[in-house]
Amino acid sequence: MITYAISATVILFCIVYYWLKTKYSYWHKKNVVGPTPTPVVGTFGPVFLRKKTATQLITEIYNRYPNEKYFGIYQGTSPALVLRDIELIKQVMIKDFVQFQDRGFKISDSEADQNLFSVEGDTWRVLRHRLTPIFTTGKLKTMIPLVLRSVDKFLEYTDEIVEKNLDHEIRSLASKYTLDVIGSCAFGVDVDAFSQKKNVYRDVADKVLQIGFKTRFFQIFNAFFPGIVKKLGISLTDYELFGFFMDLVHKIIKEREGKPKIRKDFMDFMIELKEEGRVIRKGDTGVAGLEMNDIIITAQAMVFYVAGFETSSATMSFLIHEICQHQDIQERIYEEVNNVIKKHGGLSYEAISDMRYLEMVFDETLRKYPVVGVLRRKCGYEYTFSDTKLSLEKNTSILIPSAAIHHDPKYYPDPEKFDPERFSPENKSKIPSCAYLPFGDGPRNCIGMRFAKVQSMIGLAAFLNKFKVEASSKTKKTLEIDPTALTLTSKDGIWVNIKRRH
Ligand code: HEM
Repeated sequence: MITYAISATVILFCIVYYWLKTKYSYWHKKNVVGPTPTPVVGTFGPVFLRKKTATQLITEIYNRYPNEKYFGIYQGTSPALVLRDIELIKQVMIKDFVQFQDRGFKISDSEADQNLFSVEGDTWRVLRHRLTPIFTTGKLKTMIPLVLRSVDKFLEYTDEIVEKNLDHEIRSLASKYTLDVIGSCAFGVDVDAFSQKKNVYRDVADKVLQIGFKTRFFQIFNAFFPGIVKKLGISLTDYELFGFFMDLVHKIIKEREGKPKIRKDFMDFMIELKEEGRVIRKGDTGVAGLEMNDIIITAQAMVFYVAGFETSSATMSFLIHEICQHQDIQERIYEEVNNVIKKHGGLSYEAISDMRYLEMVFDETLRKYPVVGVLRRKCGYEYTFSDTKLSLEKNTSILIPSAAIHHDPKYYPDPEKFDPERFSPENKSKIPSCAYLPFGDGPRNCIGMRFAKVQSMIGLAAFLNKFKVEASSKTKKTLEIDPTALTLTSKDGIWVNIKRRH
C-alpha cells in the first residue's frame, strides 16, 4: 500500500514538474529574455504575496533589461510579454489596435461583470461608442455648475477644518471633493461627502477600492488555470456592493419616471439607451449588440463611480505633495489662478482652459505619479511584430509598463525631479508618442480623461486660490508606496499643513 502511495506521489510530482517546466520554457523557446520564474507563482510571487505592486515589480524588471525591446514574464503560469520599446507600444495601442482591442480582464461572462473596462469584442465597441458622447466638451461644460457646487462645499469644509487644526491628510480631503462631484455629475445625488456623520456612499467608496478575498482568489486562480473561472460561470462581483448600486439605479430611474430628465447626467444617458432597448453601433451590420438592462446599466454606473473619484483625488494629492516642497511652483500657480479668475470673473470651463501653468503641473504630476502604472492588452489574433519577427499566439497577454517609461531617463532626464517645464508647449511637443501614458492611448484610452482633468483642475484652482500648503511634521519627502493598493497610493497618507491665504 505504502509502495503504491509513494509511486503515485512520485508520478504526480513528475507530471507537475514536467507541466511547469513546459509552461516556463514558453518565452525561452521564443528567444525572449526575462527573469527566471519561481515554480507555481512565476514572476508574480511578490505581487501575490502583496509585498510589491505589479507596477513596482514590472518597473524593477524593466530596468534590468535596458537594451531589450521586450521581455517575458509569467503571472502564475500564464506568460505575458512586457513591451519596452515605444515603437512596438505604438503598434499595439494605436496602429494595429484592431488586433489588440481587449485587455484580457474579462474572466467571467456574468452580466454584472460587463463593465466598459473589462468587456471585450463587439460588446466593447458598441458600449464605448454609445458612452463616448457623455464626455464631449459640450457635455462637460453643462456639468460645470454641478462641479462648482461641490467646489463650494470643498472650500467651506476646508475653511472649517483649518480653524481647528493645521495638519491634514490631503488624499482623504481630496477624495471627499471628487466623491461629491461624481455623485452629482454621474447620478444626480447628493452623497453628502463632507458631512461628519457616517455615510453610506463614503462606506461604499471605501469598499470598492478594496479587492475582496473572492476577487483576489479567482484572479490568482485564473492566472494558474486561464479560462476555468469563465467556464464555471463564476462572477467576480461583490454582490452586496452591486446590490447597493442596483438599488441606487432603480431609485433614480423611478424618480425620473423611466424618462431622461434635462439634467443630462450619466444616468440620463443610460435611461436613453435603455429606452432604445438593444444598443448597436449606427452603421454596423451583423454586430451582436447589447441589451441595456438594469444589470448592464448598474455595471457601468459602478465602474464610473470607482474610476471617477479615486484616480482624480490621488492625482490632486500627489500634486499638492509636490508643490508643498516646491513653494516657487505653488506661488506661480497661485498667481496664474488669481489672474485668470479675475479675467474670467470666476471659475468656468474657459477659465480652466486658460490655466496653462496649472495644466503643466498636473501633467508632470501624472508623469511622476501615474496612478495606473501598467496597462494591458490581449493579442486578439496571431500577430508578428514586423521588425523583430517575434510572433505572438492568439490570447497572449501584453503589458505596457507606463510607470517605468515615465521614469526612464531616456525620455525624461533626471526622472525623479519634479519639473513642470517638461510640459511647456515647446517641450511637450518633443515627447515621443507613447512615452507619456497616464490615461493610456489609442481607441481604448481612458474615456473619462477630460472629465478627470476638469474636475481636478477646478478643485485645485479653487483650493490653491484660497489656501496655501506647507510641509508639516508628518510630511514625508519621499512617499512610501502601499504594496497592497490597486492604484498608486502612499502607505502613510499625504500630510500637509493648510493655511488660509487671506
Ligand atoms: C486622473 C484620473 C484618471 C486616470 C489617471 C485614469 C487612468 C486610466 C487608464 C490608464 C485607463 C486605461 C487606459 C488604457 O488601457 O489605454 C483608464 C480607463 C478607463 N477610465 Fe480612467 N482615469 C482617470 C479618471 C477617470 C474618470 C474620471 C472616469 C469616469 C468618470 C474614468 C473611466 C474610465 C473607464 C470607463 C475606462 C475604461 C475605458 C475602456 O476600456 O474603454 N477614468 N483610465
